[in-house]
Amino acid sequence: MVDIQEILEKEGIKTYLDDKYLYDETPEFVRVEPSRDIVVVKPETTEEVSRIMKIASSRRIKVFIRGGGTGLSCGAVPTESGIVLSTEKMKEIEIDSENFCAVCGAGVTLGELIKKAESCGLSFPPHPGSEEATVGGMVSTNAGGVRAMKYGVMRNYVLGIVAVLPDGEIIRLGGKLIKNNAGYNLMHLLIGSEGTLAVITEITVRLLPPMQKTATLAIPFKSVDGAIQAVVEILRAGLMPLALEYIEKDAIEIGEGVSGRRWPPRDRANLMVIIEAGSENELIDQAEKIEKICKGFGASDIFLATGVREQRDLLMVRSLIYEGIKRDVLEILDVSVPVAAIPEYIKKCNEVAERMGFRVINYGHAGDGNIHQHPLKGKFKPEEYDNLKKEFFRIAKSLGGTITGEHGVGAVKKKELRELLPVTEYDLMVRIKRAFDPLNILNPGKVLDI
Ligand code: LAC
Ligand code: ZN
Repeated sequence: MVDIQEILEKEGIKTYLDDKYLYDETPEFVRVEPSRDIVVVKPETTEEVSRIMKIASSRRIKVFIRGGGTGLSCGAVPTESGIVLSTEKMKEIEIDSENFCAVCGAGVTLGELIKKAESCGLSFPPHPGSEEATVGGMVSTNAGGVRAMKYGVMRNYVLGIVAVLPDGEIIRLGGKLIKNNAGYNLMHLLIGSEGTLAVITEITVRLLPPMQKTATLAIPFKSVDGAIQAVVEILRAGLMPLALEYIEKDAIEIGEGVSGRRWPPRDRANLMVIIEAGSENELIDQAEKIEKICKGFGASDIFLATGVREQRDLLMVRSLIYEGIKRDVLEILDVSVPVAAIPEYIKKCNEVAERMGFRVINYGHAGDGNIHQHPLKGKFKPEEYDNLKKEFFRIAKSLGGTITGEHGVGAVKKKELRELLPVTEYDLMVRIKRAFDPLNILNPGKVLDI
């Protein structure tokens, strides 16, 4: 057994040993076991990453890249002995307000990017939830979040990437360009590749003008059908809220428990709609239109929050649901279906769950069809849960959906990805992986089952 630590130290690379690099935020039931035979490195520059990768490839040492560790699919978990490459020291950030963009080291956190952009009178809209997520991690996983319906996902904000290939070669893709059609878009291939193709070290992201004024509506419905039909109608009316979230009553109560904040009247199915406009009058006008639509689908007791604090409280209840629920769940699922198919998806899944004896709590991004289902723990055998999940994924597929809209494949949905994709597509992905990483040293055993 080679002593990886000794090899790296001899080459002047500082190493660390720390158990906190073994896990991410994936629920325990589906977590994969990490290897404890690892050393951590914390490079500060692209060149240092290149040196590390040269050492790793010449000795065939496996490398697992880690950002903020907020992932939900064990994507950053070191599953074999090797190196954990943490981007936490790659913190440079430079705003270019003339070109509406920021150049960030991979380890810059979302919170740091937002703050810096705002201090220059600009904004960075994507928000996957945790502000501890790093920009590098968000690019690697193509992070989504509540604002994706209006502002898109991470992919829509990446203009340029500097990355290190598994053999240590540095590549520079894109730049401060909105339009770029020079050949195959390798940059977009890296986005969402979950650390399996290259080490992303620097990212140029697009920034937007400052966010406008917002208001938040909490709208209770008696039925899932009513709530989602209202979502479809709000979109059909040409209204494009900043966020359109679906939350079941039980999930609200969990979020209240963790946040210590109160949610206004709630019913079985609830919508949280965040609207955005240039003036108070426009906000009121939008809110009235949304209220009218929702009442037509059986909503009552609608609550409109306009103050900064009361809006923040609502968002806190929503954002902290996962924090409160994660110890009690088997898994957090993130199936994505066409928006109008949500009621049918939830109805069919609930029927299957009931038949199999599972209790499932749902919430999610109704405006873009990305639903988080949480089957609760019980006396289940792993194969029973496997069957439930298989049924959910089968239903999603039959409705034109897919198995993950946000959290990615990582180590926990490899089998399901293989089952989902046609052989031709899967095989193309395997060939792409081999073209980038012929020795299979970069985040091996993630996404693809090879
Ligand atoms: C959310 C994360 C878990 O939507 O995706 O809260
Ligand atoms: Zn989500």
